[in-house]
This record gives sequence, C-alpha cells and structure tokens, in this order.
Amino acid sequence: MKMTNIYEGSYQWIMFGRDENKPENIIDTNQYMVRTDNRCLLIDPGGVELFAPMLAAVLHHAPVNQITDLFASHQDPDIISSLGLWDQALPEAKLHASALWEGFLRHFGCESIEYMPIADNGGTINLGGGVELQVIPAHYMHSAANFNIYDPEAKILMSGDIGAALEAPGAPIFVDNFDAHIESMRFFHQRWMPSNQAKRVWIDRVRELDVDIMAPQHGRMFKGDDVNRFLDWFESLQVGIAV
Ligand SMILES: [Fe+2]
Ligand SMILES: [Fe+2]
Repeated sequence: MKMTNIYEGSYQWIMFGRDENKPENIIDTNQYMVRTDNRCLLIDPGGVELFAPMLAAVLHHAPVNQITDLFASHQDPDIISSLGLWDQALPEAKLHASALWEGFLRHFGCESIEYMPIADNGGTINLGGGVELQVIPAHYMHSAANFNIYDPEAKILMSGDIGAALEAPGAPIFVDNFDAHIESMRFFHQRWMPSNQAKRVWIDRVRELDVDIMAPQHGRMFKGDDVNRFLDWFESLQVGIAV
C-alpha cells in the first residue's frame, strides 16, 4: 500500500492507495486519513479485501486506540464493506455516515462501532484540537445520500466518487496533464452520475469553497488549477439519464 502525506500542518492528511496486491478484477480505491495528535479519521476505508493492508498501513501512523472515527461518503462496497472487520478491530470507534443509509450500512456489520447519522444537510466532524471538518452534501453524486469532506484549513475536498478515474495499476497520484486525463474520467461520470441537475448544484457549492486539492476515491488527485479545470469539464459533460 502506497502512503502519501498530502497535508502537513499541526495535523496531517495521508492518502493510501495503489495497493500492489489488489486483485485485478477489483476497482482500485484511494483511502484517506486525517491524523491529529490523538485521534484519526479514516475516510472511505475501503472494501473487505482491503482491510488487512489498510489496518497495517494505518498502524504505521497511529496506535489502534487512536483510530477513533470512520467516515463513509456513501454505501458502496468499495467504500465501506470492510465495516464488519473494523467493527471488531475498533469497538470504541464512531462511524459518521448518512442517516438515510443506516439501515443498509448495518448489513456490513456494525455491532460495537457507534453509528453517527449525518442528516441530509451535512454537518461537521470535530476531531478536537481545533480540527473541524465540514461534511458537504453531494446527493445523487452518485448515491441518493452522498457526502464529501471539506477541510477549510488544509483546503482539501475529499470528493468521493466525483473526479474518479479508471486507470492502470500504479498510476501517479496527482493529475499531471489534465487534457490527457479526461478520457479516463469520461465514462465513469457519464454512467455513474445520474443527474445533470444534481451535478450543477454540487458544482455551484464547490465553487464557493477554497480548494487546493480535490481528492477522489478512485484515480488521481487534482491540485491547484486542475481543480477548476475539472469543474469546467464536468459542467459541460452530460451525465446519467441525459446521456
Ligand atoms: Fe460509489
Ligand atoms: Fe467508488
């Protein structure tokens, strides 16, 4: 599992991905961790097959009792089918996820972890020590109840499946040539994002934010001007039932 620090301040953001041992027929995913002095939030911790390498990677950065919070942007298996195993490893932890999905997500196993339901209008996740993350609604992007995480201090937007790309194993972690990157994003967005209307709402919301890094759950991250290039490209793309 490749680990990359993407923000280094009084706390850190770490990206985990490009796992070399990932089975070929499983979509590659990016996992993220926000690490403070004594708490860690795992963002979209991944599929059941990724649990062991993720746990090993995470323990590289923090002891198990400091992995206190999990977040699931939506209900998909590549996001959170590992929940039942985290539930055994981290019985004291909290899972922040959509209220609407609670009755479904619990099918992955959530006996000990405390389910913290997120209302449709989003909210905040407070990690203490002045680290407060915003939970931004991104409904129908692609899931009916779907959220992004925005960190106004680090200026990172974890965008879930938005901005995802399907790429060969070992692809670089940042977009280096936006125009060349478009083809690896087009089909995913046309097929998985159901609604132009929802897309417009999300773009308007994100344009209000100061984003230095947009960090999707698949493919490469966008930095600096590439964030706006993505928003412009996405705005002009017809998606979902419009296609
Ligand atoms: Fe998804
Ligand atoms: Fe995904």
